[in-house]
Amino acid sequence: MSNNRNTPPTRRRVSRKKRQQMIRRRRIILTAVMLIMMILVAIGVVAGVKTISGRNNKQTEPDVTVSSSSNIPVDGDINSSTAANDSTLQQTRQYTQQQTAGSTEQSVAGQDGTKQTGSAGNAGSAGNADSTFTTSKGFKGYVKDGVTYIDGYMIVNKTYSLPSNYIPQDTEVPVTSEWSTKSLNRELMEAYRQLQSAASSNGLNIYISSGYRSYNTQKNLYNNYVAKDGKAQADTYSARAGYSEHQTGLCFDLNTIDDSFQYTDEGIWVNQNAYKYGFIIRYPKGKESITGYQYESWHLRYVGRELAEKLYNNGNWITMEEYFGIDSKYAD
Ligand code: DAL
Ligand code: ZN
Repeated sequence: MSNNRNTPPTRRRVSRKKRQQMIRRRRIILTAVMLIMMILVAIGVVAGVKTISGRNNKQTEPDVTVSSSSNIPVDGDINSSTAANDSTLQQTRQYTQQQTAGSTEQSVAGQDGTKQTGSAGNAGSAGNADSTFTTSKGFKGYVKDGVTYIDGYMIVNKTYSLPSNYIPQDTEVPVTSEWSTKSLNRELMEAYRQLQSAASSNGLNIYISSGYRSYNTQKNLYNNYVAKDGKAQADTYSARAGYSEHQTGLCFDLNTIDDSFQYTDEGIWVNQNAYKYGFIIRYPKGKESITGYQYESWHLRYVGRELAEKLYNNGNWITMEEYFGIDSKYAD
């Protein structure tokens, strides 16, 4: 108190001013620091979101270098291994235009995995097909523009191939790239969403890892596997170009493309329930010599509910080859 009393009034005014200045400066510094921190946090959040979305992309659309321990084929990466294939897409577009102009009814019927009532395939009449045949089980088949249909279902296996420029037409998202998890048959996608939603309500996470693959994407994949494992081995798990169902837009691979998928909750559920949505396990366990491929718990083909239920056969899957009475064998 005595000190205050002794302090001259002018000095007290100066020091009050200084104090106020210091307080102002501190406020400015504090505000600046807070601003910088907010900016840093904002940058961090944006970077985090990018990382997460990047991971999701990777999960749904793996590139060609992603390979499991059991040498399972996956999607091709358009930006790397198949970058030089633009010409194929041009060819396939031309093919599509020809198809559409020539035989709309049959092309549309062929794009659908279900039996097409009234279509040439279902009626057992080949219409303007290039050739017709009857299978050993009595089913009528025909070939149009190099594509084989039996009882109205498009057939692709080691015996029945697709032209190199074949491209699916009735896709939910038009085919604009060499491979896609979205350019798949419309009806298939509807059924897939129902399947996914049913799985989800059971606490399961289902996603498409590989969907449409062009002729050239398959060619690159297959060649990579041949280089790695040899032709004989590669033929047991990877289709040659033109012989893959992935070129039809009527199938997909789910989740982890690996033998381990069959033992996951998702794999078990898919095996027991996919038929309710019109999907079949295309390469079932124990049917390797019939389909020509090892068991693929993750590869689902869309055929529609009617046929899927028959092929499910209460859990003892029947192959398309057995049901229709056809082979799956390469000519050479
Ligand atoms: N993994 C199947 C057979 C394909 O390559 O189409
Ligand atoms: Zn597959």
